[in-house]
Amino acid sequence: MNIKKDFPIFKTHPNFCYLDSAATSQKPQVVIDRIKKFYEEENANIHRGIYRLSEQATEAYEQARSKISSFLGAKNYDIIFVRNATEGINLVARTFQEPGSILLTELEHHANIVPWQLTRKKIEIVKLNEDQTLNLENLLIKLEAKPTLLGLTHISNAIGTINPAKEIIEKAHASGTKVLLDGSQSVPHMKINLEDLNPDFLVFTGHKMLGPTGIGVVAIKKEIAKNLPPYQGGGDMIQEVSWEKSTYLPSPARFEAGTPNIAGVLALQTAIEYLEKIGLEKIREHEKDLFRKCWNALKKEEGLTLFGPEDPEKHAGIISFTLDYAHPHDIAQIFDSENIAIRAGHHCCQPLMNSLSVPATARISFYLYNDESDIEKILIALQKVKQTFK
Ligand code: ALA
Repeated sequence: MNIKKDFPIFKTHPNFCYLDSAATSQKPQVVIDRIKKFYEEENANIHRGIYRLSEQATEAYEQARSKISSFLGAKNYDIIFVRNATEGINLVARTFQEPGSILLTELEHHANIVPWQLTRKKIEIVKLNEDQTLNLENLLIKLEAKPTLLGLTHISNAIGTINPAKEIIEKAHASGTKVLLDGSQSVPHMKINLEDLNPDFLVFTGHKMLGPTGIGVVAIKKEIAKNLPPYQGGGDMIQEVSWEKSTYLPSPARFEAGTPNIAGVLALQTAIEYLEKIGLEKIREHEKDLFRKCWNALKKEEGLTLFGPEDPEKHAGIISFTLDYAHPHDIAQIFDSENIAIRAGHHCCQPLMNSLSVPATARISFYLYNDESDIEKILIALQKVKQTFK
């Protein structure tokens, strides 16, 4: 796939090797143009105006909602726009008030830990296997206590493990446990169908899937959403307000107080259309291929430890590693001197780092614009790390 040409960042920074798409993706020209077009030609507030420009903006915003719903196969879900996946999880943690414990996994991002610590007293954790896949026997044991909700990352942002979401969701439902699926690292990289996966809640963010920052989605099963209380109060979510009391619009409007990120929603639609044109299945295959080649090359490096399962079916295009002779921050710095962007640190997963007994890892993450030449650059940069630190 030679599509770097669609991404202006690679023209502005020639020979830039970008391997940090798990943090945020680069943006194609069509997405940048969509934002510009909205502000130059279509800008008006939505759900309010009695004039044509506002009506057109409302229609475009609601059309984007329908587009995202069909992209996800989410006929039985309400699509609610939020700022990012983090806000989506906070929304669920604040509004889903059924009593009981919350079950999380050792793979979770802080965004799927802290909101539950803020709202719940009892949190249980599902352990990992040796190969850093989820221990499904331990999951079954934890489900015996019938937790209220399981918070599950679909793909670990830190080490790339893909959880068998469908199987896990079925097991959780058999215990009467609802599931929040964090799709931040899966929705941008593989075809997701909610009718098939059947989580009760799904969150993801636009900026990791070629869209702008500041726009995310929480999809909630309609039968659950209709009973949830509002998360934030303000304009655009009310039916009537008096000094005595207020009544609220049904979901999704109930959860979208205030003027939303209209341009962000429209640009997210454009990003999704761009991804669909290339094909999510093709993107997944491309990343699988890069993963396999990169993993096999890194495996040969002395003093290098790789994290997560080796099987490409269980591992996304995210490769985390440590070197026994250099700190991850030093690795990232040398990579940067070679014009290569990777992430180093705890990846907002401190409990996972503790389980792995490392303070940090260096992380490579691939997306559709990466190719084999990026792997060659990684190997050259690694030699430089070796010369400097070994
Ligand atoms: N969650 C993002 C990452 O993994 C920021 O880098």
